[in-house]
Amino acid sequence: MDIKTYLRDGKESVDSFFRRYFKEQRRPAVLQESMLYSLFAGGKRIRPILAMAAYEACGRSAAEIVPYAATLELIHTYSLIHDDLPAMDDDDLRRGKPTNHKVFGEAVAILAGDALLTEAFCILSDPSFCPSVRGDDLLQASKEIASASGAQGMVAGQVQDILSENAEPDGETLQFIHRHKTAALIRASVKAGGILSGSGGETIDALTRYGENIGHAFQVVDDILDVVGKTEELGKTVGSDEKINKMTYPRLYGLERSRGIAEQLVSDALSSLDIFSSEADSLREIARYLLARRN
Ligand code: IPE
Ligand code: IPE
Ligand code: MG
Ligand code: MG
Ligand code: MG
Repeated sequence: MDIKTYLRDGKESVDSFFRRYFKEQRRPAVLQESMLYSLFAGGKRIRPILAMAAYEACGRSAAEIVPYAATLELIHTYSLIHDDLPAMDDDDLRRGKPTNHKVFGEAVAILAGDALLTEAFCILSDPSFCPSVRGDDLLQASKEIASASGAQGMVAGQVQDILSENAEPDGETLQFIHRHKTAALIRASVKAGGILSGSGGETIDALTRYGENIGHAFQVVDDILDVVGKTEELGKTVGSDEKINKMTYPRLYGLERSRGIAEQLVSDALSSLDIFSSEADSLREIARYLLARRN
């Protein structure tokens, strides 16, 4: 399997769902423009791709759950728009374009984020999108995604991230931040894919451990790229963490140890997949890709 082709195909199926879903112009036009501006600015679509890869690891065909997988991208895109606001990270560049609030102003950017988040749950609460999924599995997956996004997950991590600016870094707080602001939604993406397939028990436990570990590694790599990456490749301004004195892995451990930590997390993630055979090869390849990525 060629991972580049796999990622490109996954991204295309998500984007093609969004093109259909947002076909009709809604009023006020500026709200829709602002939502679609960030949604179509680029982005790896890694969370929906992970949900689809987990669904495939459970022996099913990814095409059956594209709309539900795509909701993870709606939630993620909302989190990026809010993360870039002046009150948070105050960034000007995202996905290679000016940030949403730079183009539409803060009020519309905040509301476009709110709308993207809410739209995700409009789709998740509608069983007609994916008839192959059982109603109780959809409900359970939605609960997983909701709790990973909110006050027990991503939002908690974002608040701790803001509270920890300028603070003396410590390993325990850093883990809390990364496990919540980033790993929670990535873990939920993988887990939701498994749940939507009707799997349970040790399959879901293994997917959960895999998701948690690659999610944590994902943010450690994001911190490293903020130091050593290139703005043109990343599509966001390098050095942004340093500028506002964020609590990051490179700041506490240095670049080399941070890289070692990310490698260990990915290796733990791969071990969690030992109960699967070749159906989980995409998940394995994605884990390796996330470590090597340059954006
Ligand atoms: C960036 O996420 C924000 C983090 C949680 C680190 P991605 O690196 O997945 O960003 P896009 O979606 O590809 O732009
Ligand atoms: C963001 O972490 C995590 C989110 C939930 C959006 P960062 O603040 O490090 O993400 P980037 O570097 O701006 O993409
Ligand atoms: Mg941030
Ligand atoms: Mg940020
Ligand atoms: Mg970052």
